[in-house]
Amino acid sequence: MQQRICEIVRHGEAGTQVTVKGWIRTKRELKECTFVNVNDGSLLAGLQVVIPHTLEGYADLIKHLTTGAAAEFSGELVPSPGKNQRIELHASHIHVWGTADPDTYPLQKKRHSFEFLRTISHLRPRTNTIGAVMRIRNACATAIHQFFQERGFLWVHTPIITASDCEGAGELFTVTSLNLAAPPRTPTGAVDFSQDFFGRHAYLTVSGQLEAEIMATAFSQVYTFGPTFRAENSNTSRHLAEFWMVEPEMAFCDLQGDMDLAEAFLQYVFRYVLEHCPEDLVFFQERVDNTVMATAQQMASQAFARLSYTEAIHLLESSGRPFEFPVAWGLDLQSEHERYLAEEYCRRPVIVYDYPANIKAFYMRLNDDGKTVAAMDVLAPKIGEIIGGSQREERYDVLHSRITEQGLDPAPYWWYLDLRRFGSVPHAGFGLGFERLVQFMTGMDNIRDVIPFPRTPGNAEF
Ligand code: 4AD
Ligand code: MG
Repeated sequence: MQQRICEIVRHGEAGTQVTVKGWIRTKRELKECTFVNVNDGSLLAGLQVVIPHTLEGYADLIKHLTTGAAAEFSGELVPSPGKNQRIELHASHIHVWGTADPDTYPLQKKRHSFEFLRTISHLRPRTNTIGAVMRIRNACATAIHQFFQERGFLWVHTPIITASDCEGAGELFTVTSLNLAAPPRTPTGAVDFSQDFFGRHAYLTVSGQLEAEIMATAFSQVYTFGPTFRAENSNTSRHLAEFWMVEPEMAFCDLQGDMDLAEAFLQYVFRYVLEHCPEDLVFFQERVDNTVMATAQQMASQAFARLSYTEAIHLLESSGRPFEFPVAWGLDLQSEHERYLAEEYCRRPVIVYDYPANIKAFYMRLNDDGKTVAAMDVLAPKIGEIIGGSQREERYDVLHSRITEQGLDPAPYWWYLDLRRFGSVPHAGFGLGFERLVQFMTGMDNIRDVIPFPRTPGNAEF
């Protein structure tokens, strides 16, 4: 196993011999020597390598050590006189693995726009910003598993191909069993894309919740963490057609317990990232959004605000703000309303709960008032909704009528209704939009820049 550059930069001792492998970020040629910065993706700043002009084949080597080239350097670690680094590598042996022609390599030593970087998804992971995003994404994912595993939740793998529409919103991608070698044809000869999944309708899942409920009524506390798909044609900085969702589901749990878990969960993830990725967080603080550190510290320690939907509507009505979208009891909160509540009124994340039944999904538990459901959304400053959850309707008759009231056919939900016939219990859960969390944590403006390969309308090239 080769030593990762982050280990060397942090703990490498002067006087030791090491070999590092990575990609050149920058090169500075002086008379006596050349400095290159090499990075293997394990850290933000890379390692400074000093190449003395006395090295055999110097001129030829330097020609090939351009930005983007892959190379291996062996030599001695030496305390660095530079003030930005503790240690540097004095190379005595160099091997160039792969060159990168400076005339055609798209990533040069300058700041590229995120729009441009999106057109080169195959190379943008080599930039500082996308590199830092990916390390924070990894830390968040690790923290998520650790949080649930420490609490005895079972990680369950819910299907990506499913027959049910969890949210009942009809925003589904269909799955077809098309044989591209001999595709079925319409009478006019065109490829017939309306084929079903082996003779049945099937979709890409919008949420693993319904299947997670099955597992929760056997294992008590479970969570899913996987890709989900929404065919909503929204071109916003917060929507993807394919995004990752974390969905815990707990038997013997009500809305209160659900909100408490969501709060403890987010606090834990922020604490973990503060501890494990301080350098990357500071990068975002300095280069992207100067509130990143304060937000992370607040998220790691402070309790969230909590407001009922009815209170939230009163606050919005009396705010005196000229909102673009109307505010009235019974209407859904728009992103501008969510942001006002979190960013300006509460100045921290806020959980809004007990929404009107008619704007929420069929599975949410009807409250005693008959008008609202035991739903909750966690709204974050700058982002809006990052978590949506609820206590589930565990009463068979109520659930059945909620399904039909919402114009859905109860037949495909027979197994979901069965859970209410056999050993039904109060249960609750939520879904965290993983990319929205990473966006919130890094201050990145656009959700397309916190996932390696964004899928949005008109964007699925890689
Ligand atoms: O609020 P949503 O639609 O809730 C559910 O899917 C529930 N079944 C979850 C559950 O209770 N187990 O989605 C949950 C979260 C949202 O709060 C948001 O953060 C994220 O998923 N989300 C999206 N993220 C990116 N792009 C999209 N198109 C998203 N749609 C939802
Ligand atoms: Mg929602």
